[in-house]
Amino acid sequence: MHREPIAGLPNWRHLAVDRVDSTNSEALRLAVAGEPDGLWITARSQSAGRGRRGRIWASEPGNLHASLLLVDPAPAPALANLPLVAALAAWRALRQILERVPAALSIKWPNDILVDGAKISGVLLESTAVPGGRMAVVIGWGINCAHHPETAMYPATNLAACGFSVTPEEMFLRLAAATAASLAEWNRGAGFGETRLAWRRAAHGLGQQVELQLPEGPVAGWFEDIDPEGHLCLRQPDGVVRRIFAGDLFFRN
Ligand code: BTN
Repeated sequence: MHREPIAGLPNWRHLAVDRVDSTNSEALRLAVAGEPDGLWITARSQSAGRGRRGRIWASEPGNLHASLLLVDPAPAPALANLPLVAALAAWRALRQILERVPAALSIKWPNDILVDGAKISGVLLESTAVPGGRMAVVIGWGINCAHHPETAMYPATNLAACGFSVTPEEMFLRLAAATAASLAEWNRGAGFGETRLAWRRAAHGLGQQVELQLPEGPVAGWFEDIDPEGHLCLRQPDGVVRRIFAGDLFFRN
C-alpha cells in the first residue's frame, strides 16, 4: 500500500484507503507488523468504525476518519496526557474553519469537540506493544464534515449543517497540521503545562454541575478542574475531590 508524503510535515506519511474495517485497527495491525512512527491512515468509509467504550462509530463517505500511528511518543507517565493533546488538535483544526464563530466551539472532557453543545468530533486512543519492546499508540479522529448520526445519547452535528462546506481531504490536512503543532507544544510531556492551559481555555462546562458515567456506575458533582496529569477533578457533594481518568461526562442543565 502506497504512502504519500504530507506537504509541510516531512516526518509523517499518509496512507489513504477507500474502505477499511477501522483506520485504528489498520494502524494497530501495521504497527505490530513493524510500521515505523508517523503514519496517518485515512479511509473514505469504515465497515467497523469504533467509538469510545465499545460504541459503534458510523463511518459513511463524506466525513473524516483518520488515525495517526505514533511509536514511543513519550515516557509512560506522560501518555495519559495524549487524549487532551488529541482533543486540542481537533479543536484547533476546527477553529480555523469556525473562525467567524469561535465561541461556538468547545472541548468536552476528555476529547469530544462540540459546536454549540452538539458533538462534531470524537477521538479514540488505543495502544499495543510492537517489535523491540516498544509501545505504539494510535490516535483516531472522527470528524463530521457532511453528516452525523442521530443518537439518543447526546446531540450531534456536522460542518455542513453549521454552514461550512469542508471535504474530508481538506479537514485531514488541517487536522494533521494542528496535530503536529499540538504534539510539538506538548513536547513528549515536558510541555503539558501549555497543553493543559490551552485545553482549559477551550473546555466546556468548567465549574458546572455534572454527572459522570463510570464503569462502576454514575457519580455526580461539580467539574472543578483538570489536574496537572490531565485527570478530571470532580468535587462531590460531600466536598471530597475525586480524580477521574476515564468516563462519559454529562452536564446537568
Ligand atoms: C468517540 O467519540 O467515541 C470516538 C470516535 C472515534 C472515531 C474514529 S474514526 C477513525 C478512527 N477509527 C475508528 O474505528 N475510530 C476512530
